[in-house]
Amino acid sequence: MADQLATLLLEERRFPPPAAFAARAIGTPALYHAAARDRLAFWEEQARALDWITPWTSVLTWSPPHARWFDGGRLNVAANCLDRHLTGARRNKAAIIWEGEPGDRRVYTYWALAREVGRAANALKRLGVVKGDRVAIYLPMIPEAAIAMLACARLGAVHSVVFGGFSAESLRDRINDATATVLITADGGYRRGQVLPLKRIADEAVAQCPSIEHVVVVRRRPAGEGDESFAEMTEGRDHWWHRLLDRESPDCPAEPMEAEDLLFILYTSGTTGQPKGIVHTTGGYLTQATATTRYVFDLREEDIFWCTADVGWITGHSYVVYGPLANGATVLMYEGAPDWPERDRFWKIVARHGVTIFYTAPTAIRAFMKWGTKHPAAHDLSTLRLLGTVGEPINPEAWMWYHEHIGRGACPIVDTWWQTETGGIMITALPGVTTTKPGSATTPFPGISVELVDTTGKALAKGGGFLTLTEPWPGMLRTIYGDDARYQATYWSRFPGRYFAGDGAKVDDDGYWWLLGRVDDVLNVAGHRIGTMEVESALVDHPDVAEAAVVGKAHDLKGQAIAAFVTVKEGVKPSAELREDLREHVARKIGAIAKPDDILFSADLPKTRSGKIMRRLLKDIAEGRALGDTTTLADPNVVARLKEQYEDKE
Ligand code: PRX
Repeated sequence: MADQLATLLLEERRFPPPAAFAARAIGTPALYHAAARDRLAFWEEQARALDWITPWTSVLTWSPPHARWFDGGRLNVAANCLDRHLTGARRNKAAIIWEGEPGDRRVYTYWALAREVGRAANALKRLGVVKGDRVAIYLPMIPEAAIAMLACARLGAVHSVVFGGFSAESLRDRINDATATVLITADGGYRRGQVLPLKRIADEAVAQCPSIEHVVVVRRRPAGEGDESFAEMTEGRDHWWHRLLDRESPDCPAEPMEAEDLLFILYTSGTTGQPKGIVHTTGGYLTQATATTRYVFDLREEDIFWCTADVGWITGHSYVVYGPLANGATVLMYEGAPDWPERDRFWKIVARHGVTIFYTAPTAIRAFMKWGTKHPAAHDLSTLRLLGTVGEPINPEAWMWYHEHIGRGACPIVDTWWQTETGGIMITALPGVTTTKPGSATTPFPGISVELVDTTGKALAKGGGFLTLTEPWPGMLRTIYGDDARYQATYWSRFPGRYFAGDGAKVDDDGYWWLLGRVDDVLNVAGHRIGTMEVESALVDHPDVAEAAVVGKAHDLKGQAIAAFVTVKEGVKPSAELREDLREHVARKIGAIAKPDDILFSADLPKTRSGKIMRRLLKDIAEGRALGDTTTLADPNVVARLKEQYEDKE
């Protein structure tokens, strides 16, 4: 972290908003003034941009750490994302322009999307889904993912989207934690030319999910081609999505929801092996998703907005589905990999559809850099007018490359800091207002109260410390599903009275925020959040493993990579085969995204005299640094030997 800080301190480049952009920008300095004058009035103003069935009677009830926003108000999220756009010219506007990885394309106008959502909602209703029921969604990036989410929202059912890259066991655990009654999946999804057999994985999961009554299967693959091998249908339990929808009317009344009714649960990794079901509710979440989409992305009627995140992550919830559709925008959605069939696929898509706003992760930008400028240079990117990044700190070099080679030096860049827990963007530039500095997320969004603290919780005006939030915000998580004690302990106990985000940060003399990464046992691998404990549990689940310790190590492309230190059981011989077997085991337990890059077998792990593994020292080893303080170790030789062994390996 110290090296990173030193580099960032040298960053002196400044990028004021281009004059032409600033002249017509939707976000203005007045927003900051209004929010500073009266934060709650500012958020009420944002909430008024939505359609409410009944207006709220109280803006905020705050009994720390529990917030209620817009109590007394009733609304429906799907009606806000669809119905209200159907009365005027937007009715025939493209809501979703979709490209599948093999090259197939579909466009849904607002009208067509609303009708499809109505049919899907009626189909779920016929399967017995009612308000408050949990529906699990395990789909590739196809329009049906958004349709399924909106259908749940229409009925007041709570969706839990599980990223399609997760394993059967991860899916099973998430379904069981939420006791979902219906699972929506697909026969497969395309990734780098291969079909990921989602239904087969889902079958494995559902075999151990007693709450599941129905499985709905979207047909993604062409009909006929070996259907049975991809989707073996269980009579009575499994239904084809298209057959169910065919029978239904497109008209389905939208359930009036209380502002604080659950909208969705989204699981994310924490510092224990068990993922947390982050709970988001209706009115506050939609208010923040809608307002941030409009101001941060300067969203206009004619824009084509492409957020490359998968709907399995929070970014896909807030900035592929809810935020853009609530604003009546045109969303671009793409199913597959950026390098399929060639490394210019993204730029082909931008040029083909005339994308104007592009929002992606630094890890993708670093891959584009590595692949070379010839790919973006071969395509007409002149429609792009605004770029965004999210998910991890962006190094100034990647920021500059993005600015020059994708933005042609002309597009403002918004680096947006937020989390699954915050629901919407929290720290960001407003294009047209903020002068940006490469590598800094700049300043808090209007109405958001962020404060830096030291280890004792003392507020700091500048310098290095921990990022905390001091006031509740509309999109905040309300609790952890089924475990409010964990909610309180995880977020509100480290610094009493403050929400602790788990991130280290630095604030400079201009009050700009520079994010420095997680300070807890959570890794950020290629923008994906993975708990070290989850990977450790997966490793020790292997019959040959006695003990495992996992750390993150800096990685050029992925930001962080996973390094694992493993001791094997008596009589087991470490080998290259075992290493590969362990990697596969982790993929089976969690998903391919959690496969360790390095696995080092070791006779011992460095422990304190009380038996605690010193991960800090393992990180020093994995990153090739001199070892930090080893005085508390029970046996300092262990770590010295490990370091030698690690260096030999390379
Ligand atoms: O460490 C921060 C990092 O991603 C974490 C949140 O991960 P997740 O809940 O998966 O949500 C990712 C997308 C919102 C944060 O605690 N992070 C997110 N955005 C940034 C970031 N780090 C630095 N700069 C960002 N812009």
